[in-house]
Amino acid sequence: MNKLEVKINATKESSYPIFIGENLLENAYDYIEQYTKANNYLVVTNETVYSIYGEKLKSNNSKFIILPDGEIYKNMDTLNRILDRALEVKLERKDAIIALGGGVIGDIAGFAASIYQRGIDYVQIPTTLLAQVDSSVGGKVAVNHFLGKNLIGSFYQPKLVLSDINTLKTLDIRQFKTGLSEVLKYSFIEKSCKCEKHFNFLEFLQSNRTEIYNKNPEVLKKLINICCKLKSSIVNKDEKEKGLRAILNFGHTYAHAIEKLTGYDKYTHGEAVSMGMKLIFDLSLEINCIQEEYYHTATNLLKDYELMINLKDEFNHEEFYESMLSDKKVSDKKINFVIPIAPKEVTIKNNIDKKTILQGI
Ligand code: NAD
Ligand code: GLY
Repeated sequence: MNKLEVKINATKESSYPIFIGENLLENAYDYIEQYTKANNYLVVTNETVYSIYGEKLKSNNSKFIILPDGEIYKNMDTLNRILDRALEVKLERKDAIIALGGGVIGDIAGFAASIYQRGIDYVQIPTTLLAQVDSSVGGKVAVNHFLGKNLIGSFYQPKLVLSDINTLKTLDIRQFKTGLSEVLKYSFIEKSCKCEKHFNFLEFLQSNRTEIYNKNPEVLKKLINICCKLKSSIVNKDEKEKGLRAILNFGHTYAHAIEKLTGYDKYTHGEAVSMGMKLIFDLSLEINCIQEEYYHTATNLLKDYELMINLKDEFNHEEFYESMLSDKKVSDKKINFVIPIAPKEVTIKNNIDKKTILQGI
């Protein structure tokens, strides 16, 4: 089992642990009780995850809310249902919410915890690869609005993250690849994460593809550990996305427009992100920000992992641009693009003209 600490603004007081290992769900409350003072818990999960893992989280002190499964339910109505249930089971201020599921559950349960009685503790138990490498770490919690993704939310850190890699065994290949999109993202931004340790993550991914697809536990633990270290290095320096943290949105500006214009149900978040990353590599090559050699290394990695990279939809250019403008990465009506500039290195540019942005659409 690996344990690492996320320090917020480099302070020990607001740090929390991430545990990465096997069979952690079996003893989940042993970990949780060390980091919360709760007498009672509300476990927020969905039908799919509950049917596989719900039993493991049952205890005398836990109540459940089992939500329907899907990104379309990450909205204010579902948030209200969670708050209603918290009131119904009389959750008190020192009690805690446990998010058991993928990124959808983590985001909405964390947001509910951030506003229930002005904020109560919550615990992330991520059960998808995407949630274990990204969404459960760093405290971004939110719901979607019809005008855009994650537009209503807060920054609210969990008390601990419990990543049991055994849960990845039941994840289907499509969802596993969705997580791999975010994994590859870290390899493209590693140098810009300003982590004191160097992982050579891109090379690690190039040489461990088969082990990763075979879900080799040691390789998966190492991979999740590296992603969490890179992410916590960023969150440590810039919790509220005043600058550095924006690099985690690599590929996401295009991705959010793709998700929005396809109704959030045609593609998974990771599929949209891999298409978004390919578009951003194309854009960067077009504006001479990267050399061809790195362009081929990066896009070959996306291809080797068989991620979705080709846009199949015909988008109306004006609608696509409008969608990018309604994203929260926009400031002063300018779209901030995280652009690759060298191997494993990115920067933020907001002066790319509309025609060039839309060239690959
Ligand atoms: P998800 O939560 O919808 O889970 C994907 C599917 O896998 C669902 O059907 C779910 O029920 C199922 N599932 C979950 N765990 C399973 C398991 N162990 N075995 C079998 N099936 C399982 O999707 P996701 O990809 O985990 O998360 C996507 C969400 O995360 C999006 O809403 C995105 O906006 C958000 N996100 C947030 C952050 C952040 O920093 N907060 C970062 C990235 C993504
Ligand atoms: N997934 C983007 C972030 O956490 O900032």
